Amino acid sequence: MAAGLTELVERLNAAVEEPTSEAITRRVKSDLEDLLGGGGLTIDDRFRVPRPDCYARRLLYQDPGNRFTAVVMTWGPGQGTPVHDHGGLWCVEGVMEGEMIVTQYDVTPDGDAFRVRPVGQPLVAGVGSAGRLIPPTDYHVLANGQDNGTSMTLHVYGGNLDGCRIFTPADDGRYAQTVRALSYHD
Ligand SMILES: [Fe+2]
Repeated sequence: MAAGLTELVERLNAAVEEPTSEAITRRVKSDLEDLLGGGGLTIDDRFRVPRPDCYARRLLYQDPGNRFTAVVMTWGPGQGTPVHDHGGLWCVEGVMEGEMIVTQYDVTPDGDAFRVRPVGQPLVAGVGSAGRLIPPTDYHVLANGQDNGTSMTLHVYGGNLDGCRIFTPADDGRYAQTVRALSYHD
């Protein structure tokens, strides 16, 4: 059980009553900025443990009505994601500890593959900052911004995110799409 989890869940229950993804994500973003920036959420030590092979992805809370899930990710030095989407769900991602580098991408079909281009400059996100993503403009890369430390993020999705698309560079400068199944670590 995490200190502050009850408040987080109460706030998310209220936020998902908003009428549109735009309004929901605006509210969830401000809730995460409040709670994470103000130290209002303290989680169990098991969430802090990084994994050697890849960032860790652990379930913090699943809404019984499946309207949202809250997931904690733990990033060791050098760990990050490929370019990815969020399975068609809205999402809000906030920094709990450390620092993250967030780069937004534009992805467009090109024949049997995709063109992938960064949008703007990578953003350095510190504790208490949160970003919201609404498909279809939700392509991005997250990476731990700390060379020598672990960073942690809290992700709220508008449902149960069990898969997403990832985009990896091919030899000809275009990108190939793969569907990645997502599960939770212990
Ligand atoms: Fe993401």
